[in-house]
Amino acid sequence: MSTINETNYTLIEKQLASLIEGETNLIAILSNTSALLNDNLTQINWVGFYLIDNNELILGPFQGHPACVHIAIGKGVCGTAVSEDKTQLVEDVHTFPGHIACDANSKSEIVVPIHVNGEIIGVLDIDAPIKGRFNKKDAQGLQAIVSVLENQLAKH
Ligand code: SME
Repeated sequence: MSTINETNYTLIEKQLASLIEGETNLIAILSNTSALLNDNLTQINWVGFYLIDNNELILGPFQGHPACVHIAIGKGVCGTAVSEDKTQLVEDVHTFPGHIACDANSKSEIVVPIHVNGEIIGVLDIDAPIKGRFNKKDAQGLQAIVSVLENQLAKH
């Protein structure tokens, strides 16, 4: 049985799959995904995407306050997720070397790389206003959400 505050990622996965079924437009898919996650995740202050364009990350669809537009690959939590091709689970952003503070309220963060046909195309980035908001279960749940996205994007 799950605790009251535990996010039901399986349910979000199902909702996402039906929400983006048959859709081919990247911006529309990512916009609705950010809105769905914003509706379903508690204690977050930013959720959205950065997409690789001309060898850097550029701000994509998101929910939250306006954010930095350009992030170099290898810089910040997002750029590190790309250069290491690995989910970044950051309990306290102030201890992450080179963390880029777009929103001063952000205290913890999770970033999951997104792949299409074996190539990394960008990241899902979520910020929280409390330390230690995300754990391994969140990482697994969000990776499963990203897999739903990847499957849909790979079809086209
Ligand atoms: N904190 C991120 C920058 C993006 S904002 O969180 C929206 C980073 O260090 O890459």
